[in-house]
Amino acid sequence: MTGVKLYDELAEWWPVFSDPLEYRREAAHIARVLRKATSPAPRTVLELGSGGGNSAFHLKAYFAMTLVDRSPRMLKVSRKLNPECEHIKGDIRVVRLGRTFDAVFVHDAICHMTTESDLGAVMLTAYEHCRPGGVALFVPDFVRETFVAGTDLGGSDSPGRRLRFLQWIFDPDPNDNTYWVDFAILLRNQKGEARVAHDRHVLGLFPRAQWLRMLRGVGLKAAVVRNDEVRELFFGRRPLRSPEGPNTSMPLDRERRRATRYP
Ligand SMILES: C[S@@+](CC[C@H](N)C(=O)[O-])C[C@H]1O[C@@H](n2cnc3c(N)ncnc32)[C@H](O)[C@@H]1O
Repeated sequence: MTGVKLYDELAEWWPVFSDPLEYRREAAHIARVLRKATSPAPRTVLELGSGGGNSAFHLKAYFAMTLVDRSPRMLKVSRKLNPECEHIKGDIRVVRLGRTFDAVFVHDAICHMTTESDLGAVMLTAYEHCRPGGVALFVPDFVRETFVAGTDLGGSDSPGRRLRFLQWIFDPDPNDNTYWVDFAILLRNQKGEARVAHDRHVLGLFPRAQWLRMLRGVGLKAAVVRNDEVRELFFGRRPLRSPEGPNTSMPLDRERRRATRYP
């Protein structure tokens, strides 16, 4: 996996790198979409690739959250922030918990799927863990049509340590399904000494129509949900009855639905 430093040796810096407050607005939108999606509103939610638990920090007010991530160090950070949530170590492409949830949520971890096969595997994991009639939400940072290269600054101070970073979003080859985010990170310890770390994340970038085709390919009724204030997201509903089970062959299919209707 790329990005191993941030999710591994630098994981204990995650709370200084990324503040849960930055997730508040998007989490409120996710909670609204989820609560409108089923009647009664979902109670149990599985988050795949939950990282430091910043989304869960907000969503746990509404839902009983089960959090899956493959990094033990990120799980440790999230357990501290969200001790009331269930945490499970697993690879979201293959994990099978043997139970279903009212909803499955996949936030920015989905960007780490750089091939069609890995992206489809996570979609299938989501389908398998959705109860019939339940929903799956996916929130990639970009689809091909919304991609914007650029730079951004971040970081914060916390007792005894400070962190600042520059992130540079860059697409070296617009004809493939990946882009890069290079992080230049300065980490300052209690004594005030700073060290620098570089972390490159190679992330997946797929056209919107391909997302919809693949979601439908695994058996979800799919649509795009747009909102002016936050990123667009992909909404999938597992049909109440799917006697043939998920379709893992990903048949080619035209983009049939574009509106922000929930199927
Ligand atoms: C950007 S972080 C998620 C941050 C999260 N949204 C939060 O609220 O803190 C991405 C996470 O995806 C996880 N991840 C990437 N690939 C994975 C995989 N195949 N299986 C499980 N977790 C994965 C990483 O370990 C990392 O914790």
